[in-house]
Amino acid sequence: MKIGVLGVGNIGATVARRLSAAGHDVKVANSRGPETVPAAVLETGARAVRADEVVLDVDVLVVSIPLQHVPGIKPVLDRLPAEAVVLDTSNYYPMRDGNIAALDEGQVESEWISEQIGRPVVKAWNAVLSDSFDTKDAPAGTPDRIALPVAADDEAHRAVGIGLVEETGFTGYDAGPLAESWRQQPGTPAYCADLTEDQLRSALADAVVGRAPKRRDLAMSVIVEVTGDPTSKPVDDFILRLNRLLYF
Ligand SMILES: NC(=O)c1ccc[n+]([C@@H]2O[C@H](COP(=O)([O-])OP(=O)(O)OC[C@H]3O[C@@H](n4cnc5c(N)ncnc54)[C@H](OP(=O)(O)O)[C@@H]3O)[C@@H](O)[C@H]2O)c1
Repeated sequence: MKIGVLGVGNIGATVARRLSAAGHDVKVANSRGPETVPAAVLETGARAVRADEVVLDVDVLVVSIPLQHVPGIKPVLDRLPAEAVVLDTSNYYPMRDGNIAALDEGQVESEWISEQIGRPVVKAWNAVLSDSFDTKDAPAGTPDRIALPVAADDEAHRAVGIGLVEETGFTGYDAGPLAESWRQQPGTPAYCADLTEDQLRSALADAVVGRAPKRRDLAMSVIVEVTGDPTSKPVDDFILRLNRLLYF
């Protein structure tokens, strides 16, 4: 497939490397220009282009930028082919992203994203920590392979998302329509806990409406206390252990 990846940070870089290694025709972009894309992102065949070019003539666009910047890219996304599938990796952390007036805690994040850009989206790769995503990929059939939820309203789009998650080394789990994707948002049992497929199925079912935002903010408060700011990461698997402790 012809795939664009907008945003080549912690998550987008790994998406681009894995999908180009899998044989897809991948182009990537960030906000600052192709010359600033790290060489490591391109080492399996992806090419760097400008943000306004990454949307042209693609079958799939992966949007992997901080959530609060998504409304601002609508003019770029308006140039995407109408039939292209949009995959969204984003999560909302008010302590990091700032309070977004248009997005209240009751609204499902990816439904808000879809409204902002005026297109259907697939929520994928949002529920894996970047370190796990980078290092814990495994071929299909590997015992205890990590599974990641994929939600979308359009079944064909969801199937594309599931297939691409599989190609990045994780089991793509059908998490149903976007309205249910609150079950994979920050603070839920399914969120960034490195779960197997069976564990993920239970975790999605165990999510309790309204509980996640408090737990998400509690986890972020701990991270800020440890690191001094909401964008730095503590060492080793601290966040993974914290999530498993707080989110169940
Ligand atoms: N980090 C994680 O563990 C993790 C896990 C799952 C999901 N997520 C979610 O995935 C999304 C990306 O997270 P991340 O940690 O990969 O972010 P990140 O490391 O901060 O990287 C963000 C990327 O987005 C680009 N970008 C920002 N604004 C842009 C714009 N207006 N146009 C084009 N590119 C733009 C940045 O490019 P420039 O540097 O050139 O501005 C950068 O390449 C977030 O919504 C996050 O919540 C993160």
